[in-house]
Amino acid sequence: MINEKMVKLGTKRSIIREIFEYGKRRKAEIGEENVFDFTLGNPSIPAPKEINDAIIKNLSRKDAHGYTSAVGDNKLRENIASNLNKRFGTNFTFSNLFITYGAASALCSTLRALLNEGEEVITFAPFFTEYTVFTEAQGGKLVVVPANLETFQINFMEFKKLINKNTKAVIINSPNNPSGVVYSEDTIKELANVLRDKQLEYNHEIYLITDEPYREIAYGVKVPFVTKYYDNTIVCYSYSKSLSLPGERIGYVLVPDEVKDSKNVYAAVAGAARALGHVCAPSLLQFAIAECTDLTSDLKAYEENRNLIYNGLTDLGYECVKPDGAFYLFVKALEPDAYEFYKRAMKYDILVVPSDDFGVTGYVRIAYCVSKETIINSLPKFKLLMDEYK
Ligand SMILES: Cc1ncc(COP(=O)(O)O)c(C=O)c1O
Repeated sequence: MINEKMVKLGTKRSIIREIFEYGKRRKAEIGEENVFDFTLGNPSIPAPKEINDAIIKNLSRKDAHGYTSAVGDNKLRENIASNLNKRFGTNFTFSNLFITYGAASALCSTLRALLNEGEEVITFAPFFTEYTVFTEAQGGKLVVVPANLETFQINFMEFKKLINKNTKAVIINSPNNPSGVVYSEDTIKELANVLRDKQLEYNHEIYLITDEPYREIAYGVKVPFVTKYYDNTIVCYSYSKSLSLPGERIGYVLVPDEVKDSKNVYAAVAGAARALGHVCAPSLLQFAIAECTDLTSDLKAYEENRNLIYNGLTDLGYECVKPDGAFYLFVKALEPDAYEFYKRAMKYDILVVPSDDFGVTGYVRIAYCVSKETIINSLPKFKLLMDEYK
């Protein structure tokens, strides 16, 4: 008998993927320009030219296709540490960094490193749907704090009710997928205070895992660097969005020295990655990114898209919290059942993702990492959709 849980995971596609596949079929039928596909968080801005140049240049290395050490190439780790130190006034070294296959593997390795069977991980709705899979696969239980629908900042009243002696870790994601909200410094400070109090009360460590693939995609607001506010913070990062490299699978786990027993925690992350089949992140990409750690893609277009779609939809009467980062808009559906609303939108070839899997009902996620034309041409369709409800 094979593992039924895994069969289920492998056969039940995520709704996002399902809609995306439908979109591909529909585009083949009626033409790409007639489908307004806002489903996937696939960066629309190309990777910087420097990355492509660095890949080509590093191809001539003798070890271009060889293994690196499991923890990652030293030069890459050194350059990431110095980039973070420059930007955030920290004192990291290469030995705080473990290079992974993107944020997904960074999160799985971190969760596997921290969790014993049955321990709980708390996250805040709305949240990245894969946290459930990642946590349960590592033997943990994901506990979801209901959303603060006014601001999509943390709902502390509900958080304090749910944190308990089995809580081993908390995952935050800011800028957030799917709300686009950036957690303010006040939110992070309050979160750190609650966690410090609870660590004392329960007499064990509670780790704060900060999932940061959208760190650099913020529109004129400060994204607090969380390790400075709470010692037991572990950062999971990815180059998928900031350098537009989602298919190259590269990111890292950062375990600061301030984490209690940090050397062991780092060793556990390495051990967990090993147990999950990690050998080393793609070498050529490690060498190339080592030369580009101070760069991002030209992210301005996302802010232009944010303004275009936020202003366009709110002018039509749609409701949403103005996102300060990432490339998502979390819009209130025009009827209580987000799934019904998403199906109505489909009639106009507008493809959006119903919010239920993100832990909130009655909203849809719009990924605006698309061309400007897609947004402009979708607005009359959004108007027709709105008119249906008047
Ligand atoms: C919040 C969040 N975390 C993690 C990931 C996974 O990123 P990666 O492609 O680096 O594995 C994503 C991808 O969209 C995401 O939105």
